Amino acid sequence: MNPLSRRLNIGIAGSGQGGGGMLPVMASMPQLQLVAGADVNSLTRQRFQERYPETRVYGTVAALCADPDVEAVWVSTPNRFHCEHAVQALESGKHVVVEKPMAISLEEADRMVEAAARHGVKLIAGHTNSFELPVRAMRKVVASGQLGDLRAVHIWSYTDWMLRARTPDELDPDQGGGIPWRQGPHQIDVVRLLGGGMLRSARAMTGNWMRERPIAGYYCTYLEFENGAPATVIHNGYGYFMTAELFPWAVDRLRYTSDEIAQIRRALRTGTRDEETDKQAFRIGGSRDPNSNRPAAGSRRDWVPADLGMVLVTCERGDIRNSKDGLYVYGDEGRTEVPLAAWGGMQEHRGELEELYNAVVLGKPVYHSGEWGMATLEACLAMLESARDRREIFLKRQVPMPAEYDAELALPAAHPSPAY
Ligand SMILES: NC(=O)c1ccc[n+]([C@@H]2O[C@H](COP(=O)([O-])OP(=O)(O)OC[C@H]3O[C@@H](n4cnc5c(N)ncnc54)[C@H](O)[C@@H]3O)[C@@H](O)[C@H]2O)c1
Repeated sequence: MNPLSRRLNIGIAGSGQGGGGMLPVMASMPQLQLVAGADVNSLTRQRFQERYPETRVYGTVAALCADPDVEAVWVSTPNRFHCEHAVQALESGKHVVVEKPMAISLEEADRMVEAAARHGVKLIAGHTNSFELPVRAMRKVVASGQLGDLRAVHIWSYTDWMLRARTPDELDPDQGGGIPWRQGPHQIDVVRLLGGGMLRSARAMTGNWMRERPIAGYYCTYLEFENGAPATVIHNGYGYFMTAELFPWAVDRLRYTSDEIAQIRRALRTGTRDEETDKQAFRIGGSRDPNSNRPAAGSRRDWVPADLGMVLVTCERGDIRNSKDGLYVYGDEGRTEVPLAAWGGMQEHRGELEELYNAVVLGKPVYHSGEWGMATLEACLAMLESARDRREIFLKRQVPMPAEYDAELALPAAHPSPAY
């Protein structure tokens, strides 16, 4: 059979907010067949079945893994289950994409890598943001050398992350709760991708400033690459200033209005918020499910900072940042724009699934391997350790991104776009 006409059967473990965002993407990709899902939440199972009536629905990940028709499993259960569920799937001979953070300890990540090797299946560390086209396009501009060597990367994000409804485990740092665990992996993975992968050290502080939420809602981290290039990653999830305010077209894509934010703060302070109901509203089939009227896959979408934030890349002779339609590239001759909107689906989260398909069906390499994910996890753990001990932490498990990654991705031609 022509490999391109072969569909890969995929199942999903955990169809909450994160997993729910992947379902329309999976359903839209001709390379994939969504065949099953597992979730412990019966309402979620019912709504999943209603939306995808052709699939089989299970109450446990073990049952999903026992389904012989499932070839690959997307793991989007809570952080504390990533290792357990990934290993269960890998040991059942399934390929796995695991959501970020890959795991909550290096020992867990080692077990996952080892299980994939032992069973001869693929393991992909799915740090969604670093698979998005604007980030990959930035890496291509850096790699082209047109601006000279990379000198610095800064990613700053101000969001309402701490105000979103949470399950009890999300409010427990020991179970992977808090913004360093949930957003740190995205920003660090993007920094590593842009800078080649090899971080040397991390120095960080975290902030736990909201009595109603016993988890860190802020971090500020200074990372240094082996070649001396610096990077900073900052996320403030307390929802006062929002990065989206800097990009007027992005404000409409925020989760809450200012009035809703004020109401949520009051409800949290008075202990009257119904977190479970609020969270379920954003999950599959809920009253605020963002995927129920999502634009068709591949349709044009403006770039917005979303949770990743504002990415600013500095090279020897220029800078790169996101524009509404793609990238602004600042060089000796002024500013040009690389238009990415024409590609469609700028933030459609297809990257991990394409890498999975290419690896399993077309025999291409896995670039965001378990070892790659482990290196990002190591930097996240270093961030937490550094904040706790107030010292620089040196990293030992870093791996490079092979230069041939994304060789087939051709950037559209840039056009002049005067800065001012
Ligand atoms: N990449 C992204 O952009 C992105 C976005 C959001 C969340 N996530 C990740 O997704 C994961 C889940 O976060 P969320 O916000 O979707 O939370 P969520 O609570 O909405 O989703 C978790 C889902 O897993 C189910 N579940 C819990 N325990 C289970 C078990 N033992 N077996 C089967 N199902 C189980 C829950 O019922 C729920 O439906 C986290 O690891 C998070 O980091 C990633």
